[in-house]
Amino acid sequence: MSQSVNNLENNPSFERDWHAYYSAVKGRPPRDTLLTALANFDKEISDSDSSRFAIDLGCGNGRDTVEMLHRGWRVLAIDGEQEGINRLLSNPNIDRQQLETDLMKFESLVLPKSVDLINASFSLPFCQPPYFPRLWDTIVASLRSGGRFCGQLFGDRDSWSIDSSANYHTRQEIEDLLQYFVIEMLEEEEHPGKTALDEEKYWHIFQIVARKQ
Ligand SMILES: C[S@@+](CC[C@H](N)C(=O)[O-])C[C@H]1O[C@@H](n2cnc3c(N)ncnc32)[C@H](O)[C@@H]1O
Repeated sequence: MSQSVNNLENNPSFERDWHAYYSAVKGRPPRDTLLTALANFDKEISDSDSSRFAIDLGCGNGRDTVEMLHRGWRVLAIDGEQEGINRLLSNPNIDRQQLETDLMKFESLVLPKSVDLINASFSLPFCQPPYFPRLWDTIVASLRSGGRFCGQLFGDRDSWSIDSSANYHTRQEIEDLLQYFVIEMLEEEEHPGKTALDEEKYWHIFQIVARKQ
């Protein structure tokens, strides 16, 4: 993710270069959070024959959507950027019959009900903060009982947390968000590192897999 600061006064916010990001991550493998969630579904023998329906929120160019399609899931891939969706649809190795896409912003998101899995890899932090509580309620309401959420949220010590246009959480806040879930993975990562575009940053990330009660 590349960012350029467009206001460094009291309320800095960043413009993100998703075009460069999509090029940088092209062909990368699915996220471990998604793989863990899929493995946890596979352990539930009674569900193994049913058709499974997932939403990939902030799908980007679809590294996670592609994996779900390859495993026979039906997927609704949502992103706020047409370019991400176009890149996903141009992938020749996917079953388009099982894929629906929707251009939608998190700030006005509407989701279907009874969804088995909502995957949101490195995307929800970019929802404007006043809209995040509504977004999270929409996600929780969309999942069926026994459905899973997987993805990442950023912690309050992340170096991008000076950016007022994105959202960051303390560990307590993350635990509160997950109160209606059984937590299957909650890994807190904190370390200096680089972005997909090779820029230095301090990461504070919560890696989450959780099953709705
Ligand atoms: C860091 S990329 C992650 C893409 C993909 N999930 C991955 O793991 O590579 C974040 C994605 O979220 C999307 N996004 C950011 N803010 C959004 C918003 N407010 N509404 C909808 N999508 C948004 C971006 O367009 C981008 O594709």
